[in-house]
Amino acid sequence: MKKKLIAGNWKMNGSFAANEALVNGLLTNLGTPACEMALCVPSIYLAQMQALLVGSEIDLGAQDVSQHEGGAFTGEISGAMLKEFGVRYVLVGHSERRQYHFETDALVAAKAQRALACGVTPIVCVGETLTEREAGMTEEVVKRQLAAVIHANGHCISEIVVAYEPVWAIGTGKTASAEQAQQVHAVLRAQLKAASAQADRIHILYGGSMNAANAAQLLAQADIDGGLVGGASLKAPDFLSIIASAL
Ligand code: PGA
Repeated sequence: MKKKLIAGNWKMNGSFAANEALVNGLLTNLGTPACEMALCVPSIYLAQMQALLVGSEIDLGAQDVSQHEGGAFTGEISGAMLKEFGVRYVLVGHSERRQYHFETDALVAAKAQRALACGVTPIVCVGETLTEREAGMTEEVVKRQLAAVIHANGHCISEIVVAYEPVWAIGTGKTASAEQAQQVHAVLRAQLKAASAQADRIHILYGGSMNAANAAQLLAQADIDGGLVGGASLKAPDFLSIIASAL
């Protein structure tokens, strides 16, 4: 059975001093966890984080990647550049980027494709808004978002990670119940299975107010293979406790 994956999403938080203190707090108390781990940090701190995490079991992640290979795209960061900093994972299509940066399904799919081409694993985020959930559109929305990525990536699809993050649960303290989350994860798993004979190896993470108190129950669900953790990944004891519940 594959190990679970717990990934922290620091979003736009951090400083040299805070990053060092947080990583030291994690590494000192990590023990021998049963899961895989990653930290998705602001790109400007990748060099610092690469040095802090070297030789540890925690992989390095970024939060976005350009869909372009290189060239005249001011402000963008390429997959090859991420790779040079030892980045293993990159978030693509986080709801904050879909919402505030108008990223479309097609763009997210192109970013996932670019990451894969550079040997970086995309963590493809999907999830419905509260309005969409209330309109009974949850399955339709997440399937549409994932279908774009499957369409663009063909047989490479078993190389991605998927994160189901209901938008209404992100940073709100409202978590999807374990049953609600499992229901959507099962839909995503079936969609991946229809696309790839190796779909069982794909991690499907849950994200959205995962914390030390609710992680164990969420992670016990059959199709929840880990977590994408925002707020709680900024506090070493909370993140460690989530890691410890990922058995
Ligand atoms: P949260 O964020 O854990 O703070 O809700 C999760 C995410 O946006 O990845």
